[in-house]
Amino acid sequence: MPTLTWTADLALSHQQMDTTHEEFVELLGATEVALVDSNDAALTAYDALLAHTIDHFGQEDRWMTATGFSPENCHSFQHAQVLGLMHEVSRMAREQGDFGPLERVLPELAGWFRAHAQTMDAALAAHLDQVGYDVTTGAIARPPAAAGMTGCGGASCSPAPAPAPGATTAA
Ligand SMILES: [Fe+2]
Ligand SMILES: [Fe+2]
Repeated sequence: MPTLTWTADLALSHQQMDTTHEEFVELLGATEVALVDSNDAALTAYDALLAHTIDHFGQEDRWMTATGFSPENCHSFQHAQVLGLMHEVSRMAREQGDFGPLERVLPELAGWFRAHAQTMDAALAAHLDQVGYDVTTGAIARPPAAAGMTGCGGASCSPAPAPAPGATTAA
């Protein structure tokens, strides 16, 4: 049984972001289910999750830089932290045959995603709506007054903590 399933409270009223997030939740759940079958199946499913997450985070990072965020903003920084952890988990499974980190990181990612979506991603969705950003054409109806924003796009910066690095070490 997956730790996280798609529910209406995860939706952010941003069609492209919600579609991507629903796919993330499905791929994460599929990896948890595959882990019950075999390590090989889990690694294949995890690779699909990782590839999707690279695109998912890249998409949001591009939207942020296109609408006035500094490349060093805290939301993109957290994406980089999570991707670094996910790559390390993949490396340990593949090169060392250690699937413990992969097993531990899946529920960590589920908890992290829920918080991240409801804080940083929600703030980004509100910002994109505010500036009238068209994700298809890249047009901005109401360009932001400030450029080089480093916060999350909300009134305050309230990042959800990234999954603990301890996910890659033995419990
Ligand atoms: Fe996201
Ligand atoms: Fe995000």
